Amino acid sequence: MMRYIPTENRYEKMQYRRCGNSGVKLPLISLGLWHNFGKIDDLENCRKILHTAFDNGITHFDLANNYGPPPGAAEETFGKLFKEDFKPYRDELIISSKAGYKMWNGPYGDFGSKKYLVSSLDQSLKRMGLDYVDIFYHHRPDPETPLQETITALDLIVRQGKALYVGISNYKADEAKKAIDMLRELGTPCLIHQARYSMFDRWVEDKLLDVLENEKVGCITFSSLAQGLLTNKYLHGIPEDSRVGRHLENGAITESQVTPEVIEKVKNLNEIAKNRNQSLAQMALAWILKDKRITSVILGASKIKQVTDAVEAIKNIDFTKEELDKINAILQ
Ligand SMILES: NC(=O)c1ccc[n+]([C@@H]2O[C@H](COP(=O)([O-])OP(=O)(O)OC[C@H]3O[C@@H](n4cnc5c(N)ncnc54)[C@H](OP(=O)(O)O)[C@@H]3O)[C@@H](O)[C@H]2O)c1
Repeated sequence: MMRYIPTENRYEKMQYRRCGNSGVKLPLISLGLWHNFGKIDDLENCRKILHTAFDNGITHFDLANNYGPPPGAAEETFGKLFKEDFKPYRDELIISSKAGYKMWNGPYGDFGSKKYLVSSLDQSLKRMGLDYVDIFYHHRPDPETPLQETITALDLIVRQGKALYVGISNYKADEAKKAIDMLRELGTPCLIHQARYSMFDRWVEDKLLDVLENEKVGCITFSSLAQGLLTNKYLHGIPEDSRVGRHLENGAITESQVTPEVIEKVKNLNEIAKNRNQSLAQMALAWILKDKRITSVILGASKIKQVTDAVEAIKNIDFTKEELDKINAILQ
C-alpha cells in the first residue's frame, strides 16, 4: 500500500481560533468519531475521511472511550489508522478522548470517580496506541461523585503526563463555573467545554457561553447539524445510508425525530442557505461559527464530501441582520 502523504498546502485551507486564553489554536472545523468509525463501518472509508480532514487542515480529531459500536471500536479504528498513516504527524494533531458514560460493567466503569477516569484513559491510550492525549474530558457531570474528586482526577491525569489539557462536556453553566474554578485552583486550567449547540438546540446561549467567555475557556460544539437533520438529506424521505436509515443505537437520531414540523423548518432554512450560495449543512455550521466565542465545531462525517463541504463553509460565516432575523423567525 502507498504511504500516506498529506497535502502540502493543508494549512492554507483552514482557519484556526485560539482556545480561550490557552496556547492552543483549533481549526474552525474539527472531526468527531462518535459514529462512522465503529466495527460496522468500512475501514477504507474511515481512512479516506481522516485523510481528507487532515489534507484540509483539520488538525483536531475528537474521540471518547465509548465511541463505536461496540464501545472502544472508534479508538481502535483510529489507533490502527494512526499507526499506519498519521504517526509521523503526531505533533501536528490535537487528539481528544473522554470518559463519563458507561464503558464497562460493575461500579467502576461509569460517571466520574477517580478510579473510572484514570483507568479509562489508560485503556483509551492502549486502544489508540498513544503515549498521551492532547485533551481529556470528563464527558458528563456525575450527580453522585463529589466534583472535587472528578476535578482532582483530571489534574492528576495531566500531572501524570497522560493528557496535556483537560476539558468538561455537557456541564450546565453553574456546574461548569465550579469545575473551572476548582481546576484553576489546582493549577490545571480548564482548556475547553464541549457542548451540544445547533440552530435546533440553543441552550448554551442562555448562560453557558457568557461563563466561558468570562472565564476565558474555549467552547467546541457538537451535533451542530443536529446529527444530519440540519441538511437537505431528509427533505424527500429517509435515505437508507443515512444515520436515521441505518437504525443505529447509542444516541443516534431516529425516524421519530424526522417530523413534518422539523422538515418544514428545514425547507425554509434551506431557502435562506440557497440565497447565501451555501448548502443547508454549510449554513448550519457557519451559523455556529459566526459567534467568536466558539472555538471550533466538531463535524461528524460518513463521507468525504461531507468533510470538504464543511471546510468550504468557513469561507462565509458572516450573516446579515436580515438573514439572522429570518432564521430566528423560522426557528421559533
Ligand atoms: N460530548 C458529547 O457528549 C458529544 C455528543 C455527541 C457528539 N460529540 C462529538 O461531536 C461529533 C459530531 O457529532 P454528530 O455526529 O452528532 O454531529 P453532526 O455534525 O450534527 O452530524 C453528523 C452527521 O450529519 C450528516 N452530515 C454531515 N455533513 C453532511 C452534509 N454536508 N450533508 C448531509 N449530511 C451531512 C452525516 O450523517 P449521515 O450518516 O446521515 O451521512 C454525519 O454523520 C461526534 O463525532 C463527537 O466527536 C460529542
